[in-house]
Amino acid sequence: METKIRKIDKNQIDETVIREAGDILKAGGLVAFPTETVYGLGADALKEEAALKTYAAKGRPSDNPLIVHIAEYEDLKKIAVNIPAETDILAAHFWPGPLTMIFEKSAAVPYGTTGGLDTVAVRMPSDPVARELIRAAGGFVSAPSANTSGRPSPTTAEHVAEDLDGKIDMILDGGAVDIGLESTILDMTVTPPMILRPGAITAEMFEELIGEVSVDETLLGDESKKAPKAPGMKYRHYAPRAKLLIVEGDLREEILAIRQLAYAAHREGRRIGVIATAETLPFYKYGVIKNIGTRENEKTIARSLYRVLREFDEEDVETIYSESFAVQGMGKAIMNRLEKAAGHLRISAAAVVKQQRYRRITFVSRTDSARAPMAAEILRQYELKQEYVVDSRGLVVLFPEPANQKAEAIMKSARMTLGDHVSRQFGEENLQEDTLILTIDENQKNKILSEYGTGYNVYTLNEFVGDSTEIPDPYGQPLTAYGECFEVLRGLVKKLAEKLDSLVEEGL
Ligand code: TXA
Ligand code: MG
Repeated sequence: METKIRKIDKNQIDETVIREAGDILKAGGLVAFPTETVYGLGADALKEEAALKTYAAKGRPSDNPLIVHIAEYEDLKKIAVNIPAETDILAAHFWPGPLTMIFEKSAAVPYGTTGGLDTVAVRMPSDPVARELIRAAGGFVSAPSANTSGRPSPTTAEHVAEDLDGKIDMILDGGAVDIGLESTILDMTVTPPMILRPGAITAEMFEELIGEVSVDETLLGDESKKAPKAPGMKYRHYAPRAKLLIVEGDLREEILAIRQLAYAAHREGRRIGVIATAETLPFYKYGVIKNIGTRENEKTIARSLYRVLREFDEEDVETIYSESFAVQGMGKAIMNRLEKAAGHLRISAAAVVKQQRYRRITFVSRTDSARAPMAAEILRQYELKQEYVVDSRGLVVLFPEPANQKAEAIMKSARMTLGDHVSRQFGEENLQEDTLILTIDENQKNKILSEYGTGYNVYTLNEFVGDSTEIPDPYGQPLTAYGECFEVLRGLVKKLAEKLDSLVEEGL
């Protein structure tokens, strides 16, 4: 079948396009259209055969009921019975909008649409294209998300085409959607009403208006243990092709853990993905890193989630590590979808972080102008089993200076450079639990110990690697003295690299 794609501007709706699409629906065909949440795959909700076509196009199990979309509140009475009193209040506040309510169905709704249930899910979308289309189609349009079953819901017409081109009659392309996650589903047939799927309208928003609501407990944990009340929630939805793992902890730990995992994959030649945020993006270096939005505005994250998951399907990555998000407000819906995409695979950031003893190695010399920066740069040449931030400090740095020119000349002859180096003063902030401080000689070590006390990881370089060779001080001497110093440093740093890797092997 040829799928017609029609662009449509919601601020200036072309009535002829709407009429064409409406006629297709009235004739029992399928039209994908934008809503404020995600794109829907529309069909005539009152025709049994139309529902069957919908299931076939999506490859969706037919026990998974469809949502009926309406454009006028009065139309609710034609498809639902025993509508509870609070419905008026909720509709007045949230319709049109990202809320689906479940009622007992009337005889007008075929069982094909409700997946055999005696209840019907109803939503009045706010997107003007959706509303015009519903009117043009006769008022009742069933619409699941317009993706192939199991793929992330579509937030653009291109996503719809990726999944359904050739399988449906038309796609109305109204650009990217606003919210990006499916509507909140509220079951009105129970008291108090129960949230079956979290979305942009939250429990707190309902409770302000109608008092207590409950939440389907299977949404919170691993739902394989118990069947969720919305049949669709039991399937592993939104699944990316790669294995998706949610890294959980406080944000600092999550970043450290993901960095560690990404570095390990990089060393082993495995391609991985990282779901990061605008705030955390600069911390990552290895793998395919995608920005999902800003932590300052969770709406940006909701809007990008499915797009990012789809984009990863185009990347040849075997595993995706995602940061996690606060489970409040819209965050509840975000984590709900992310966890489903991950098939509930989580890893504890703290447990990963614990596996790495040192993260930073700071070399300390007197002035941080030759020996310490040389040692640091030599160490940076090694591909170690774990990733370390390697830097240097001086105990007497009066003002920041570039590296000693002779030191730089020697480094250059060994194809390294201290070109970016600027000397910096050692201070208490360098004495972190995860930092290994390696001084060039005893003097510096003793000075640190007497000033800051013991209890930190402070060693001389040769002590740490178990080699008694002293590092000479070439200051004020000719170039050859710098060359000799370099050779000693090179030998000790080589032992350091071996020692660091052996600590990893021993799991220390
Ligand atoms: O935002 C949305 O709701 C989008 C747009 C297109 O409106 N639609 C959507 O439809 O997400 P769908 O089919 O992908 O998800 C509908 C969910 C499924 O989990 C389904 O099981 C549940 O609603 N559902 C539908 N009717 C139900 C009923 N009578 N009882 C319980 N759950 C129902
Ligand atoms: Mg869906």
